[in-house]
Amino acid sequence: MKEQREMIRLALVQRAKEARKKAYCPYSGFAVGAALLCADGSVYDGCNIENAGFTATCCAERTAFFRAVNDGKRDFKAIAIAGGRAGEEPTGICAPCGVCRQALYEFCGPSLNVIMAKTPDDFIERTLGELLPFGFGPANI
Ligand code: THU
Repeated sequence: MKEQREMIRLALVQRAKEARKKAYCPYSGFAVGAALLCADGSVYDGCNIENAGFTATCCAERTAFFRAVNDGKRDFKAIAIAGGRAGEEPTGICAPCGVCRQALYEFCGPSLNVIMAKTPDDFIERTLGELLPFGFGPANI
């Protein structure tokens, strides 16, 4: 069980790091990749996509999430995130921004595992509920 968890984490972090390479981040120079594990075992990745009108920027987590939802996915288990200066290895962990936490909460709820990784072996793992306590979701409206 523990081994399986580790294998999944390694695969997700690897995928997030690959996704970083596709980041479009000419303004910040900060490249982020995310890999979202669906309940059916499929994985969707995403990168950050910046915009000259800064507020239109989409983070890597939301890119992955929206791609998955657009393909009909509604149940998710985990998301790995890796970020740092473009063209370089991450020097620290990259935590999801508040907007992404809220976006993920819609379908993922508090149990989603969020893996914030510098490398596959150097990471912090928290649930979405820990990152977004008292989250506002479908049950609240
Ligand atoms: N960014 C992400 O893609 N995900 C995060 O978790 C934090 C920030 C992006 C947004 C922007 O393109 C760049 O990183 C700098 O904020």
